[in-house]
Amino acid sequence: MAFQRKSRQSPRGVGDEKWGAAVARLRQLSSLRPALGIILGSGFHHVLARVKVDGELSYDRIPGLPPVGVTGHSGRVVVGRLEGTPVLIFSGRAHYYEGHSMEAVTCSVRVMAACGITDLLLTNAAGGVNPKFRAGDFMVISDHINLMGVNPLRGTTIGGLPRFVDLTCAYDPQLRRWLGTAARRCGLRLRSGVYLAVAGPSYETPAEIRAFARLGADAVGMSTVPETIVARQCGLRVAGLSCITNLAAGRSRAALSHQEVLDTAARVRHAGARLVAEFAKIHGQQHPT
Ligand code: HPA
Repeated sequence: MAFQRKSRQSPRGVGDEKWGAAVARLRQLSSLRPALGIILGSGFHHVLARVKVDGELSYDRIPGLPPVGVTGHSGRVVVGRLEGTPVLIFSGRAHYYEGHSMEAVTCSVRVMAACGITDLLLTNAAGGVNPKFRAGDFMVISDHINLMGVNPLRGTTIGGLPRFVDLTCAYDPQLRRWLGTAARRCGLRLRSGVYLAVAGPSYETPAEIRAFARLGADAVGMSTVPETIVARQCGLRVAGLSCITNLAAGRSRAALSHQEVLDTAARVRHAGARLVAEFAKIHGQQHPT
């Protein structure tokens, strides 16, 4: 049942009441019942060009969703089929550095969970901390380090959800394997590594990047981690995919700029879209809905 929990007693209970208006609006869009949700960050918006769209809506028409405000983020929800697999896609995200609360930043995940997805693919642009990484690489997230200084679960717990959420295996091994298979089928090299999240919006100093490398980080970015934490609280399986849009501060002589992030994202947009589409195809084959 799409966009509908089978039971109010669902172990994932996601506080459906709170997101009722948003869920109702999304239900009107399509009769498709996606199990797979995807959030498209910088570098991945081109995925939309591959979607057979059944219904779409801009974020500002969905009750409770904050506006998104970064160049390259379009802010719309699309329901459709990607390589035949039903998908619920949020294209664009609200960032903490824009001044949004953690609740606002993660509300798209709660809405998706309330709509009935079981698996969530989070995509983003990130800086390469690992010296082997090159701009234009893709990285499957194996684990994360939260240095944003905040946690989205702080405060009142919603709808009987767990207060203390286990993150031992935050990024699902099976979904990670499917990303690996998808990359092989696309002929793409897929890196694997730890994503470290900072609040931003300034980029890091070279000293910070050296410290992050010592902590075990392979890539650094300003999103995704709050979404993963909330998704895990909701009982969703999570996969994370980064487009390495630049070498992190001090990893090259060049100064960092948002323009470089956008330029690299544009350069590899077709590869990123193919990778996500192939992942969706595998998901549909392995997890028919
Ligand atoms: N640092 C933080 N966030 C980023 C970067 C970076 O170098 N590149 C893309 N997002």
